[in-house]
Amino acid sequence: MSRPTATLVLRNAVVATCDRSPSDAGLLPGAAVAVEGRRVAWVGRDRDLEAEVNAGGAQVIDARGGLVTPGLVDSHTHLVFAGERAGEFALRCAGRSYLQVALSGGGIAVTTRATRAAPDEQLLADAAARARRLIAQGVTTIEVKSGYGLDAPEELRLLRIVHQLGDALGGDATILPTLLFHAVPPEQVGDRAAFVREACAALIPQVARERLAVFCDVFVEDGAFAPDEARRLLQAAKDRGLVPRVHAEQLTAGGGARLAAELGCASADHLEELDDAGVAALAEARVVAGLLPLSTLFLGSERYAPARRLLEAGVPVSLATNMNPGSAMSENVGLTLSLACLKLGLTPAEALVAFTAGGARALRQPDLGRIARGADADLVLWGCGSPEHLAWHMAVNHALVVVKHGRVVHEAPSAAMVDCR
Ligand code: NIG
Repeated sequence: MSRPTATLVLRNAVVATCDRSPSDAGLLPGAAVAVEGRRVAWVGRDRDLEAEVNAGGAQVIDARGGLVTPGLVDSHTHLVFAGERAGEFALRCAGRSYLQVALSGGGIAVTTRATRAAPDEQLLADAAARARRLIAQGVTTIEVKSGYGLDAPEELRLLRIVHQLGDALGGDATILPTLLFHAVPPEQVGDRAAFVREACAALIPQVARERLAVFCDVFVEDGAFAPDEARRLLQAAKDRGLVPRVHAEQLTAGGGARLAAELGCASADHLEELDDAGVAALAEARVVAGLLPLSTLFLGSERYAPARRLLEAGVPVSLATNMNPGSAMSENVGLTLSLACLKLGLTPAEALVAFTAGGARALRQPDLGRIARGADADLVLWGCGSPEHLAWHMAVNHALVVVKHGRVVHEAPSAAMVDCR
């Protein structure tokens, strides 16, 4: 095979390929990565670079012993919304639960009113600012859900805004849109069956026809959708070529995980209330378990998803921010990694793999989330030398250089921390 001609090389790095197993970050000390165009062309020992790659004309980044990982894959976000829920946060601090607030007229309904009232330009600008915060922390792929419009015209509007978001970011991150059934619209609560019927007959087919979403997700929960309703919605989505996913067992054990297994969903996310039978069902069906520890923290709960049991049962896991105004008002990637270790019991290597290869698996994107020849050249150079350090120095941004499809899309200011290499 002829030597690839590199357009970009990262040298003198500790490379975490994240392409081995859920517990192995695939660390290669003294390594280099060569990129040709949008793809990784070679990864190996730094001292072999010149022999293996024609790197004469390439942009060179000297990692100076720093960690290079795949770009992070944030596989669960709700970036498109308006309004704030700070008052609700204060109520929860005073002892009310998320469900109590939601069932007394707060929660998703509040964000829906604000979102419906917001012009497209504002929704787009706010979502882009949130996405930029993620990119600056090393995220190069973002799944973005609709879900705060609730009725068909508003959900279509939000999905169009998600598409505009991809354009507005100019390719600095891959945006993957999801049609989310978050709750029955307030105007249709009197006839839930009619809402589900119409969504299956009209909204889902239109979304599929216009290619407005890759995934369809349903919040299976008290006050949202029952498993039977979700089954109808997700089956209709599957029939139209959308990939099904589920918000499952977040606040109550509602049967979402078993439904995800039954339908062969790409992922079942949250899972704080998952029982052993649910773990077994996800393992058997190879559904990715989406771990979202920022929301467990934000809701003031100590019931984190049973991540160790999931890993031990062989369930693939992903880790994501779940950025949203109600249960995780944060884009903090570093805190997500640390919570995965401190509260979910993952090792730092497992947390990193879950936020890269695991996220890619949840989104069914085999070319993302790993560093290997032919994979997308989405890379992050961190200002530290190990996955342990990323999780240890908590809730700060260690990303120095972010590369998307072989192009530097973010560089930290020169004063950025370069820590303990
Ligand atoms: O993923 N659980 C459902 N959806 C969001 C919260 C939505 C909200 O409260 O606005 C979540 O946690």
